[in-house]
Amino acid sequence: MNQVIEIMKNHRSIRNYSDQEVEQKKVEAILSAAQLASTSNFIQAYSVVQVTDQEKRKQLAHFSGDQTYVEQAPVFLVFCADLFRLQLVVKKEKIEPNFSTLESLLLTTIDTALFAQNVMLAAESFGLGGVYIGAIRNQPQEVSAILELPELVVPLFGMCLGYPKEPVPEQKERLPLSVILHQNSYNKNQLDVIKQYDQKIEAYYVKRTDGKRNDNWSKMMARLFSKPLRNYLRRFIQGKGFNME
Ligand SMILES: Cc1cc2nc3c(=O)[nH]c(=O)nc-3n(C[C@H](O)[C@H](O)[C@H](O)COP(=O)(O)O)c2cc1C
Repeated sequence: MNQVIEIMKNHRSIRNYSDQEVEQKKVEAILSAAQLASTSNFIQAYSVVQVTDQEKRKQLAHFSGDQTYVEQAPVFLVFCADLFRLQLVVKKEKIEPNFSTLESLLLTTIDTALFAQNVMLAAESFGLGGVYIGAIRNQPQEVSAILELPELVVPLFGMCLGYPKEPVPEQKERLPLSVILHQNSYNKNQLDVIKQYDQKIEAYYVKRTDGKRNDNWSKMMARLFSKPLRNYLRRFIQGKGFNME
């Protein structure tokens, strides 16, 4: 293999950090490398807010389901879909930008995700570990107010980073590639492979919780999708100026 693949294959979310500080220079080296991620039409439609203010951290942790690592991680970043900058630029060119369709939201969301995963990987290449925080979408209005996000800027997820505290958690095995990779046409027959995968995930949780958690991937997905998820987001995002026609 090679070093990049090795780092990727070693990924696990890190939620506990050692006391070692993360140098700001390193953070900026990571972010500027990550900016080289591909970007739809060169739009670079994302922003990241680094939150160092402890009071703001505390509030963000609270509004993210009281996840303590949001407050405690050495570094906390909020990744935002951002068309505000493009609005400035296009207007400067004496054109009224048209962000009316769902495609505008997809473009900026995809761009942000590609940038963010580059950040995670670059951080891991420095021996850092981290975890995404989708829970900042629990109360997006409050998060937006804390960070003073203007129109056309939507907080998508946060990311905690820091040097991992030992012992690091075990890795969570992913689905077999055979259900992810389809050759030439989509293969709908996946349940046999998933049943075997469920057994592995069940064993993972039994081991991780000393037998207390009896769970598997199918059960987790069924719980997750048994009700609508964050059904207030459409209104919030529309309020930010995305019409999603
Ligand atoms: C967009 C996104 C949002 C996430 N939000 C949270 C979160 O709010 N809290 C958390 O503890 N983990 C969060 N995670 C981490 C996932 O739970 C984790 O990546 C997944 O369970 C796989 O585990 P692994 O990263 O250790 O391999 C998030 C991951 C992603 C990609």
